[in-house]
Amino acid sequence: MSKENDLIIRIAGEGGEGVVSTGDFIAAACARAGLEVYTFKTFPAEIKGGYCLYQIRVSSERVYNQGDTFDVFCAYNGEAYEMNKHLLTPGTVFVYDYPGGDFEPVIPDGVIAYAIPMSQAAKELGSYRSKNMVAMGALSVLFNISEETLRQVLTNKFKKKGEEILDFNLRAFEKGKELGAGVKKLDTRRVADPVPAKDVIIISGNDAVGMGALLGGLEFYSAYPITPATEIAKFVATHIPKVGGTLVQAEDEIASIAQVLGASYAGKKCMTATSGPGLSLMSELLGMASMGELPVMVVDVQRGGPSTGLPTKHEQSDLFLAIHGTHGDAPRVVLSVEDVKDCVEMTVDALNMAERFQCPVILLSDGSLAFSTQTIPAPKPESFTLVSRKRWDGQGKYFRYAMTDDLISPMADPGTPGGEHIATGLEHGASGSPSWVPANHEAMHHKRFGKIAGLAETYKPVEVDGDGDADVGIITWGSTIGVAREAVARLRAEGLKVKGFYPKLMWPMPVAQYEAFAKTCKKILVPEVNYQGQLSHFIRAETSIRPIPYTICGGLPFNPAMIVTKVKEVL
Ligand code: COA
Repeated sequence: MSKENDLIIRIAGEGGEGVVSTGDFIAAACARAGLEVYTFKTFPAEIKGGYCLYQIRVSSERVYNQGDTFDVFCAYNGEAYEMNKHLLTPGTVFVYDYPGGDFEPVIPDGVIAYAIPMSQAAKELGSYRSKNMVAMGALSVLFNISEETLRQVLTNKFKKKGEEILDFNLRAFEKGKELGAGVKKLDTRRVADPVPAKDVIIISGNDAVGMGALLGGLEFYSAYPITPATEIAKFVATHIPKVGGTLVQAEDEIASIAQVLGASYAGKKCMTATSGPGLSLMSELLGMASMGELPVMVVDVQRGGPSTGLPTKHEQSDLFLAIHGTHGDAPRVVLSVEDVKDCVEMTVDALNMAERFQCPVILLSDGSLAFSTQTIPAPKPESFTLVSRKRWDGQGKYFRYAMTDDLISPMADPGTPGGEHIATGLEHGASGSPSWVPANHEAMHHKRFGKIAGLAETYKPVEVDGDGDADVGIITWGSTIGVAREAVARLRAEGLKVKGFYPKLMWPMPVAQYEAFAKTCKKILVPEVNYQGQLSHFIRAETSIRPIPYTICGGLPFNPAMIVTKVKEVL
């Protein structure tokens, strides 16, 4: 991708200053101009105050991650400047609040700087709150961001807050444009020109999971709020009544998973979403779902842990918990999404798998993806195949846990004459009645594990990026895949022999595919955002591969340059 087609704008300031709104408006304007957008946000756990960052990458070609660093940096305050000044390298563009702001920067040689008196202008207009719209006006003129579309999205957002608020923000936006036009443009950075509109939407990872749930035929959602997963419930709450479904807010995570088990027993397609601490609380009832063979879907939007950890920060550290966080031998399927498009499509897959295999399915997303907005092809409801559980046909005597060829037994909805059965946490025989017979416990384990054992053959479990032999193969998961894709492309462009292996089915592990990939690579590097190298651990445990772990855990995702550098080190 040429640099002219690929612009990265970073905006940073204090939580409450409207950094997120500015970024959202610019991202929406670029998407409406037909361009590809990938955003990244990071902010503190406080509602107000603390360092808040929003990065927008916009291109005329597909983008897979937030990029290495920025081309344009807009600082709302001194803290934002201090946090980013080491990245102000020759050629970068710096837009900052001056005079009238709380800092006076030192401009490094080669950095193109534009001083815009954002705070001062907003105060003169009578509303310091609108400082962010002054900044946005200036950015629109300086970097070719459609002013008309920005005005539209600004109006849509603020008219809900009242005429007065809309009015001062529109005036602030105009003032910002005037200030931007008043500085001498010394750089050549600009957002690419609009291209003919494509059939795309711009949506966040969390909203995309909610959309996928509704496209997947969701009938019941039990919600308990937790950062960074709460927006999934907000999306579902808004839209599920339109399809006749129900959302209930439970009193805690244990209650929410219990409600999901109950709804599943009652015959409904159901789910909940949480983050690491919530998934820990759900683990006992997930064991019951395995034992009772109840279709249950849980989304885990991973955040920095353990405990309350870094609630608003990115991490991929729940793989151990998702796969093995249970008592006894309790099988489940674990999937993980790469990007916002996956958030839609794999939520449908996860609901389908829960129904098909009558077991818990955990879908892993992460904090970076949760808040990232991306342009994706508009989902077509008719393109999804929906799966419902195998149901009893009412013939003969009903055995809830009857042994069948595929080890999946027909379920009878409560109230079906003759289909009465109990589903408890106790081991049971074919009828559902408790059984302590040793051979029965073994047979039932075989049934519960056996029904998902062949999943790697029927579901596209991995994607291989590249052909032939390679000196280094990169295996990674979750949103790090998008970063690895770009790193692999850059390394190949330099003539290096590098391949990628991107699993989406994390458990049961598609061991044969891992082994086949590793046979084509001299060394295997596994980048992931956790301290212990959790995927590396599973690779060592389940395959003959001896990977080189590459872990970071500072609450931020990788960028492509980090992986490029590491691969060169390994080589
Ligand atoms: N005029 C009027 N209102 C404006 C405005 C303007 N010019 N610019 C922004 N706002 C409003 C926004 O609309 C938003 O209000 P809304 O919530 O009603 O939509 C609010 O001010 C905050 O602005 P926004 O741009 O969304 O965010 P921000 O950049 O100021 O950052 C956050 C605030 C996101 C950091 C903070 O609110 C937050 O959510 N923190 C994390 C909390 C959390 O999850 N903690 C973890 C608990 S475990």
